[in-house]
Amino acid sequence: MGTFTKVLLTAACVAFLAVKWNAPRFDAESLRGARVLVTGASTGIGEQMAYHYARFGAQVVITARREKVLQKVAEKCLSLGAQKALYIAADMASESDPDKAVDFALEQLGGLDYLVLNHIGPSPFTMWDGDVEHTRWLMKVNFLSYAQMAWRALASLEQSKGALVVVSSLLGKLPSPFVAPYTSTKFALNGFFGALHHELAMKKSNVSISICTLGLIDTQSAMEKVRGVTNVPAYPAADAALNIIMTGATRQPELFYPWFTHIMTLSKDWFPSITDYIVQNSYNYIP
Ligand SMILES: NC(=O)c1ccc[n+]([C@@H]2O[C@H](COP(=O)([O-])OP(=O)(O)OC[C@H]3O[C@@H](n4cnc5c(N)ncnc54)[C@H](OP(=O)(O)O)[C@@H]3O)[C@@H](O)[C@H]2O)c1
Repeated sequence: MGTFTKVLLTAACVAFLAVKWNAPRFDAESLRGARVLVTGASTGIGEQMAYHYARFGAQVVITARREKVLQKVAEKCLSLGAQKALYIAADMASESDPDKAVDFALEQLGGLDYLVLNHIGPSPFTMWDGDVEHTRWLMKVNFLSYAQMAWRALASLEQSKGALVVVSSLLGKLPSPFVAPYTSTKFALNGFFGALHHELAMKKSNVSISICTLGLIDTQSAMEKVRGVTNVPAYPAADAALNIIMTGATRQPELFYPWFTHIMTLSKDWFPSITDYIVQNSYNYIP
């Protein structure tokens, strides 16, 4: 290895360690009694986030469409140590339910410290077939309801020096085949909350925004779609959930989980042809 390469590698390692060293430390105690609303919490990553918040002794409101499932998750949250665990059934495709869910949390908890926006509507894993109606519906569920809920909760988060946590995806940074409508909703989220992040900073707001970029996570809904179609490794939902919570609690603007999603995001601009090759060859597809 040449001297220049050694110096470059050492500099990269030093820079990496400096960033890690200066990152704010997560204090689990800060979540004791915290007032949290988690969306899409009947299953998957949202359910795991509810359990982590419960173990940290938070007061949790969870929402999704299936009331009976939410009830079971809320009961488990109480058994794990949540100070409160309440649920409200809401369909985020509706015009009024996003506000209804936020209002319920504000009333029941007396305000909010964390709004964790995580839900997604079911979407097929197929080549784009021209179904604009589905895309319109998915935009409502995966994007517009996020903007609506964030606005509804903002005044309370401002008062509590709270945090807005948005669960996004690598597919919101790097377009991928078979999921054009889903990818579009995640790009919309990144654009909207990226702009809001600047606006809040310019207004010297108390509210932090964390945008979480996730790779493939082993939730049931994700695994059912990609099984046999790709060999991309899936990471554990409980670990993804914990990383999202820590990112919100330490008021970090971004999370990349797993770490290589950051490299993939950068490589799209730095090495577009190689990235295209990798993306298109990550799937078993015969035309
Ligand atoms: N899993 C992955 O590989 C992966 C990768 C990157 C990013 N992410 C992101 O991580 C987040 C969670 O993903 P996940 O895999 O855990 O999802 P999931 O298991 O499919 O869970 C989706 C949640 O949203 C709820 N939901 C669905 N339609 C809804 C609607 N119309 N109104 C309200 N709630 C609705 C579902 O509950 P009900 O059916 O009871 O309504 C469920 O609680 C999403 O933002 C996703 O984009 C996931």
